[in-house]
Amino acid sequence: MAISDVQFFQGWKQVLGMCNLKPGEQVTILTSDDSNPQIASMARLAASDIGAVVSVLNLAPMNGEKAISRDKSGYIGKTPLEGNSAALACLKASDMVIDTIQLLFSKEQEEVLKTGARMLLAVEPPEVMMRMIPTPEDKARVLAAAKKIGAAKKMTVTSAAGTDFSCDIGQYPVLTQYGLADEPGRWDHWPSCFAATWPNEEGAEGTIVIDEGDILLPFKMYAREPVTVTIEKGVIRDIKGGFDAEFMRKFMESFNDPRAYAMAHVGWGLHTRAHWTVLGLYNPEAQLGMDARSFAGNFLWSSGPNTEAGGDRDVPCHLDIPLRNCSVSLDGEAMTRNGEVVNADQR
Ligand SMILES: [Fe+2]
Repeated sequence: MAISDVQFFQGWKQVLGMCNLKPGEQVTILTSDDSNPQIASMARLAASDIGAVVSVLNLAPMNGEKAISRDKSGYIGKTPLEGNSAALACLKASDMVIDTIQLLFSKEQEEVLKTGARMLLAVEPPEVMMRMIPTPEDKARVLAAAKKIGAAKKMTVTSAAGTDFSCDIGQYPVLTQYGLADEPGRWDHWPSCFAATWPNEEGAEGTIVIDEGDILLPFKMYAREPVTVTIEKGVIRDIKGGFDAEFMRKFMESFNDPRAYAMAHVGWGLHTRAHWTVLGLYNPEAQLGMDARSFAGNFLWSSGPNTEAGGDRDVPCHLDIPLRNCSVSLDGEAMTRNGEVVNADQR
């Protein structure tokens, strides 16, 4: 069901309030030709109603001729900020940027964040955003998980389907996503709720089995049969199985870039109002899949870039793969068991 403007305006006011937006702050709403107009307009009205000084910056879309779909998570290339020093200056001079075009993984985004501007990505359908509107409890669960990740040296993941994977951690920062850009220099995505980090370089080993019903993003497909992924020294060496394995291999090969096979962020979902089923209810192009990435107890692993963690692997191929029914441990302490969050502070 659609969300009314009144409801969405109130939702934006609530979220911007929780992002500590204050009267007089400079807010830039970044839009492009394919932005959701209700997101951009209600964000603008809500920020204005709080008393912020609001600008809307509209930039041309990019990468259409290179990407093989319209999903912006399926091709992470250059952004329209590259070479646009005027637009970049506008964002850098802002206290808060509301991104409706998805700058994620770009070096320009990192530059903007370094100035202290906070950035909130908002691209999911409004009804998904409203169902998963961030709460203080969501944030508390993510911070509790982040504290555990930050203190750990090793992440281990097992499942009855055959996953037996471990990685050394600590080289890269902890990624927290709880839907609020509430501190200077913080990036977040409304809606979102998970904690993760990146394996140390060459520090990931083992087998990950994508079981029937697990989710392959950005394809937005539920796996129909098991896919066995072999990881050695932080790199995917083999992808075995039926159609889903072949699809995954061919997609990755299409980028013709060996960096696509590096392991990227690993962590688990903590959103109690996100659902495994939602992906099956939408036209694939209608959403990014934040339910899939966030549902509580998933093991969310990924491949490709590490620029978000401060690394230099800016490969445009990025897969996010949330698995059900896994058990994730940190230095031997259970965080999830068979797909359920078991750590008391994260429930
Ligand atoms: Fe990702």
